[in-house]
Amino acid sequence: MTEPATAPKRSPLHPYAGRFEVHATMPEQPVSREQILDELRQMSTEEDRKGDTGRVSGSIYSGDHDHYHFQVEAFGYFGHANVLQRDMYPSATKMEAEIIAMTADILHGDENTGGLVTSGGTESLVTAMLAYREWGRNTLGIPNPQIIMPITAHPGHSKAFHWFDIDVLIAPVDEHQKVDVGWVRDHIGPNTVALVGTAGTYPHGVIDPIPELGQLALEHGIGLHVDGCLGGFILAWAKDCGYDHTPFDLSVPGVTSMSADTHKYGYALKGSSVLLFRPKSLRREQYLLIDDWPGGAYASPGMGGSRSGGLISATWASMLSFGKAGYRAIAQDIFRTADEVREAVLSHPELELVGDSLWNIAFTTTAESGMDIFHVNDGLGDLGWRMNGLQFPPALHFCITRPNTQPGVSEQFAIDLAKAVSYAQNPPNPMPRSGAMYGAGGAERPPKDKMRESSANRLDAIHEVGPLS
Ligand SMILES: Cc1ncc(COP(=O)(O)O)c(C=O)c1O
Repeated sequence: MTEPATAPKRSPLHPYAGRFEVHATMPEQPVSREQILDELRQMSTEEDRKGDTGRVSGSIYSGDHDHYHFQVEAFGYFGHANVLQRDMYPSATKMEAEIIAMTADILHGDENTGGLVTSGGTESLVTAMLAYREWGRNTLGIPNPQIIMPITAHPGHSKAFHWFDIDVLIAPVDEHQKVDVGWVRDHIGPNTVALVGTAGTYPHGVIDPIPELGQLALEHGIGLHVDGCLGGFILAWAKDCGYDHTPFDLSVPGVTSMSADTHKYGYALKGSSVLLFRPKSLRREQYLLIDDWPGGAYASPGMGGSRSGGLISATWASMLSFGKAGYRAIAQDIFRTADEVREAVLSHPELELVGDSLWNIAFTTTAESGMDIFHVNDGLGDLGWRMNGLQFPPALHFCITRPNTQPGVSEQFAIDLAKAVSYAQNPPNPMPRSGAMYGAGGAERPPKDKMRESSANRLDAIHEVGPLS
């Protein structure tokens, strides 16, 4: 049946229209709890299916539903608690401080290390950047502080530059996708207050040369933030698992802050990350302290005001339930699976690795192959895989998480990658269907010349109820 010209177009963003009622207005009468939970159960079960099979890169870090249920119970005890009110919820102080202390322990902090629990990686990054801006202004007397960040660093930093009007210099990377330290050295100026390095980067999972950046920071008396949002909780176990790597954490002289996301490889529920500062005094730089507000003296860290105690209790529970031994065992499986995925990629002369990651395997097609990596992605997508599409250079990455370590997954990946390479050698259409859109699993390909507009349209669309039926 053809729809009348005036009917709203079906949108892949709104697949439930026509299946569940669309609430474009508040229902007059209450909807039964049974119906609400039934709808939620259906959506959740269906949406988890793909990730649980282990065919998704990144995105889902644990995949263990028993672990989720355990954390949901832990969340439930304090989900309603506003931990801004510490007289009512001293448990939050115990648990939050222990989350920080445990993270500092595995990332080699010392007695001068302090931290915060934030709502996620981006909040950790913007909070760190704000601390450096304030430190630059208040301690170094620099009115327009500048931060130098590699092009591969996560855009979460750029949110801070955008919101807090901080000057940024974007440093290039070398052929291994690691920041060009010589360039950074040459560009540190009188306004530079901090450098950024990543361990490991979102695009290619590589560790920037943190010891060299630390040396530069020490020579110039400036800060160095290491973004370990993605890598912190997995790379922490690499040496124990027999994998060597560049030192990246607070054991490196000159590192003054580090972010590590508990809601990624800490396997906590979504909504938590840890930001560590060394020295602790740096943490103070971003506190908001107001003593003359009619509502009372106000003091708060980070971006949030009221915060749920549930995220703190669930994160604390997640960390304790693994301990070092538990995290190490999962990491061993992840590194082993990454070795197998890397081997599958290298078995194709048409493909090559980008970077040298231990667990976030980025790859592309060789120039000689004449193939488009996004045709490979289309082939993998047709077989049920969801890789992440990258640009500059065009590539894919397979960020290995716990669900990918299930028996048979890497073997099936090798089989399906071979099929995808054959598909890409002879694609049905010259233009691939997939592209490099962050957060869309490479499934979308907005027109290059309209990337910003089409991204803004997409953001608009995901905040609208969409078609009513
Ligand atoms: C290296 C890195 N830093 C920061 C972030 C931002 O984390 P979040 O999405 O939790 O805000 C990510 C997300 O993948 C990341 O990979």
